[in-house]
Amino acid sequence: METTAHVSKASVPAYEEKEETLRPEDLSEMLAAGTKEVHEKAENTQFVKDFLRGRIRKDLFKLGAVALYFTYTAMEEEIERNKDHPHFAPLYFPAELHRHEALARDLQYFYGSDWQTRVSCSVATQRYVDRIHQVGQEDPVLLVAHAYTRYMGDLSGGQVLKKVAQRALKLPSTGEGLDFYQFDAIHSAKAFKQLYRSRMNELELDTETKMRLVEEAVKAFHFNMEVFDELEEMGKNIQEDVLDAGMPVHGTMGGDIS
Ligand code: HEM
Repeated sequence: METTAHVSKASVPAYEEKEETLRPEDLSEMLAAGTKEVHEKAENTQFVKDFLRGRIRKDLFKLGAVALYFTYTAMEEEIERNKDHPHFAPLYFPAELHRHEALARDLQYFYGSDWQTRVSCSVATQRYVDRIHQVGQEDPVLLVAHAYTRYMGDLSGGQVLKKVAQRALKLPSTGEGLDFYQFDAIHSAKAFKQLYRSRMNELELDTETKMRLVEEAVKAFHFNMEVFDELEEMGKNIQEDVLDAGMPVHGTMGGDIS
């Protein structure tokens, strides 16, 4: 019986894979441990902290979506180039993960039908994009680190961020403008993350390469933080009303973002 028509062929058997015990030398564990510190730093950037409090300016949120659009366009272009590469193929989940089209829809919603002529790639985003292209073309195994940093992060915090943005920016409850946060082909983020981790662990990689991947993931976090800091700076230079979700500024977020 065909019960998984919504899931791409590549992922069907893996959803049924049994849970395996993880070892410290597994890539998923090395990445989680190796990015723990920089993850905490990323969570503590001013832009991210404000976002979580619902203190988001619409202009900055829109510019954030533009940065994501250029980032995912580059990443998914390089993923397509390397989709048959043995070091990436098991992680190729375009139907489930790819965000390029969702972001294009969000930008159309925010900037109108001529959005493509109204957006441009910022300096910090361009540095991130350049690195993604360099990796995809010169050292494709490192693409794994970039895909991990973004997609696993999106699957972890996405739903909370979506709700915060929806409320703060008074976006329609139908979800327009927030397609980026909506993974329609993933029914359980937790199960999918488990699948992704087991696929990462099955890649045939020596220890040195795994260590280079951890280093690259740390770099990817830094690129993201540079984009956040740039948005924060831009915020100081543009005049706009602060849209507040009405959440207590000194309160805690409460609950697990995941
Ligand atoms: C995982 C929270 C920002 C990348 C997680 C998890 C939480 C979390 C609770 C664990 C989910 C789980 O175990 O299933 C947050 C909070 C953030 C934030 C509160 C700030 C608002 C970011 C940023 C990035 C990122 C900016 C990178 C661009 C990741 C990655 C994972 C993750 C790659 C997967 C870790 C792993 O299991 O190996 N995050 N996150 N996060 N987050 Fe974040």
